[in-house]
Amino acid sequence: GSKPDFKGKKVLITLGPTQEAIDPVRYISNHSSGKMGLAIANAFRTCGAEVFLVSGPVSLPIDTGLFHLVKVKSAAEMYQASKKLHGEMDVCVFAAAVADYSPAVVAQEKIKKADSEMSILLKKNVDIAFELGKAKRKGQIHVGFALETENEELNAKGKLDKKNFDLIVLNSANEKGAGFQHDTNRVKIFHSDGRSADSGLVSKNDVAVLILEEIKKVPVWI
Ligand code: PMT
Repeated sequence: GSKPDFKGKKVLITLGPTQEAIDPVRYISNHSSGKMGLAIANAFRTCGAEVFLVSGPVSLPIDTGLFHLVKVKSAAEMYQASKKLHGEMDVCVFAAAVADYSPAVVAQEKIKKADSEMSILLKKNVDIAFELGKAKRKGQIHVGFALETENEELNAKGKLDKKNFDLIVLNSANEKGAGFQHDTNRVKIFHSDGRSADSGLVSKNDVAVLILEEIKKVPVWI
């Protein structure tokens, strides 16, 4: 039986999209629904873990009787909330689709319609997984995601190294039934020691169970 495997463990999961304000009524965002992150949260809960969710704006019902929940909007807010929790965590799963850029200046008033073209200057956001990866201590496990459209394995393995992940979960934005919004996903999981696994196209709940199985294979030194 594998149910109580994470009993006493604290798990941080980032999930959903971020929203980066342009002005009081507009924002930049992406299609993440939070389903993948919530499926992982449910799997950890079933296995006895105490789960902390830092969630961008999602319309999923999140049971605050089962999970600690911090709701955020922007990448900057997601970083602050995650950083506060990070030191206490045993496992961190970065399932959120964080905006890489945000408007350099947030207009205080609604931007008026004027010329036939307009541009918005963007500045780079903090990379949450990268920053917390630098602070990772012995015994902590970091799991990243990669959402790719080309050179998928190469890009995923690059992120695995750069962000100091123990394993990375690759999903493709091109594959039918995988990635954003669907109740299904297909992932390939790569460990930092070279091992890998392929889920095939299955429910996000089944993908979550596979991710937990792979996490159990990571050598830790608690
Ligand atoms: O929410 P769903 O609709 O169920 O869709 C699930 C999903 C497609 C959002 C999910 O499976 C997924 O792939 N999440 C990560 C999407 C992503 O932004 O990947 P990335 O390749 O851009 O980022 C790589 C990793 O760094 C991710 O773990 C990401 O959370 C993290 N990151 C990225 C940028 C940033 N500024 N901070 C981060 O922490």
